[in-house]
Amino acid sequence: MTKKYSHTISFVLDDEIINIDFSDSESLSPTTTALNYLRSLPNHKGCKEGCAEGDCGACTVVLATYENKAIGYQAVDACLIFLPMLHGKQLITVENIGDSKNLHPVQEAMIDLDGSQCGFCTPGFIMSMFDLYKNTNKPTNAQIDDALTGNLCRCTGYRSIIDAAQKAGAKKARDKFSQQKETKRMLGAIPKANIRLSNNNQIYHKPADKKSALELVQKHPKATIIAGATDIALRVTKNHEIIPEIIDIGDVSELKTIGANKNYYKLGAGASLEAIKTFCKTKVPALYKMLAVFGSKQIRQLATLGGNLGSASPIGDTTPVLIALRAIIVVEGKNGSRKIPMTEFILGYRKSQCKRGELITEIHIPKSTNGTQIQSYKISKRKDLDIATVSAGFRLSLDKSNKPSELILVYGGMAEMTKRAKRTEKYLSDKVWSRKTIEEASKLISADFTPISDARSGARARDLMAKNLLLKFWTETTVQ
Ligand SMILES: Cc1cc2nc3c(=O)[nH]c(=O)nc-3n(C[C@H](O)[C@H](O)[C@H](O)COP(=O)(O)OP(=O)(O)OC[C@H]3O[C@@H](n4cnc5c(N)ncnc54)[C@H](O)[C@@H]3O)c2cc1C
Ligand code: FES
Ligand code: FES
Repeated sequence: MTKKYSHTISFVLDDEIINIDFSDSESLSPTTTALNYLRSLPNHKGCKEGCAEGDCGACTVVLATYENKAIGYQAVDACLIFLPMLHGKQLITVENIGDSKNLHPVQEAMIDLDGSQCGFCTPGFIMSMFDLYKNTNKPTNAQIDDALTGNLCRCTGYRSIIDAAQKAGAKKARDKFSQQKETKRMLGAIPKANIRLSNNNQIYHKPADKKSALELVQKHPKATIIAGATDIALRVTKNHEIIPEIIDIGDVSELKTIGANKNYYKLGAGASLEAIKTFCKTKVPALYKMLAVFGSKQIRQLATLGGNLGSASPIGDTTPVLIALRAIIVVEGKNGSRKIPMTEFILGYRKSQCKRGELITEIHIPKSTNGTQIQSYKISKRKDLDIATVSAGFRLSLDKSNKPSELILVYGGMAEMTKRAKRTEKYLSDKVWSRKTIEEASKLISADFTPISDARSGARARDLMAKNLLLKFWTETTVQ
């Protein structure tokens, strides 16, 4: 690892490079959120705080990143972004998108179609619409819904907002961001260096490459690792915790690659869930289906697969489907790399086989063989931006006598960890795949799990949901 560190972060805001050195700042710490930073400035009060936990979208901003000679625009929740995560990027707020004479086309459309009443949510909606405008020409209704899922409005009603998004996207007008020469120059001028920031009570490391990241996690095994920080940021914004040491692997490009070889798809642990979702649409439909109802676009553009596995939550959305896909988790540490089957990766409540001093670096998904059926399901109180009440990942291959030659039935939300329904699997293993045997087998789900009752659901309802998902799977694998 290069011994030279930068002690400053740099990003572009208001067409200039902002440098922050936390060691001599009285008001800013490395875990100050972009939301609180913006609201401390005189000209960026458009970034609103609603929930401070990624649920309402009032704080939506757009981050521009310069890669492969092009600038990409992504809407994210500023309340989940620690300031060092802005390093090397352009931070764009609602105050930045128009110019001195004209509003931006998405702003014009919101005015023309009465998309705002009290106005509290409006800057956030505008920034989500700006992301859509920059990335999607003539968006479909589904694309508009997806772009606006992470924004809540309590008073206008969504029809006029959706109409405004449609109107703005109908004609690909140029905006001031089409001229990117100066922004590219500024972003290109920010060096990609290993960063070490500190103040009186915090140290924040931001490695620039994988080698440095691995050295740091080995040298500082007690440090908190963050990738997208969509889980960890809540410890700061909700619990007001001062995290003493952080290793931020969010800009390690080697962890973000997505590709394939002859046998499997290779997903970088640090790739965003939105990038993985796009890749999986035709290649790994069961994972795509789960990611399509994962958080919101603002969350998925920050969150990573490594982070979802790293949190090892019993209601993490990707764990059941990754088990059903027979994914292999690649973990690297001081003794090199280990390949762990996903069926063995989760050990208990928020406990996985990835130890301190190690990083999850890749997730391999074997290309499925003909005849194998894999499905994922998520039941939640609302379709989007909600935590699973019960989730499932199922895998089935049938032999010539219509009996399972391979069967995985794995559930989330039913126990302290994502868990296979082993008794049910065993019962079905030598039975004909018929409605009668499924109905018999589903009685065993009550023996496989003792779900809890909580704010999301009662135990009996969870038991019934798990049984009905099995029946649904049977229907989908049988009825043409
Ligand atoms: C509003 C909102 C909605 C959400 N919706 C969903 C949802 O629908 N479904 C769902 O499952 N989750 C959801 N989450 C939770 C969260 O977004 C996911 O768990 C996400 O995948 C975490 O990824 P991250 O990169 O942001 O993780 P981080 O917060 O950066 O890290 C999470 C954990 O993983 C560890 N970690 C991160 N990367 C690695 C790595 N490469 N190697 C080892 N350890 C690592 C960290 O140390 C930490 O313990 C939501 C969160 C919010 C705030
Ligand atoms: S303040 Fe609600 S999403 Fe950030
Ligand atoms: S306009 Fe009032 S909350 Fe949306």
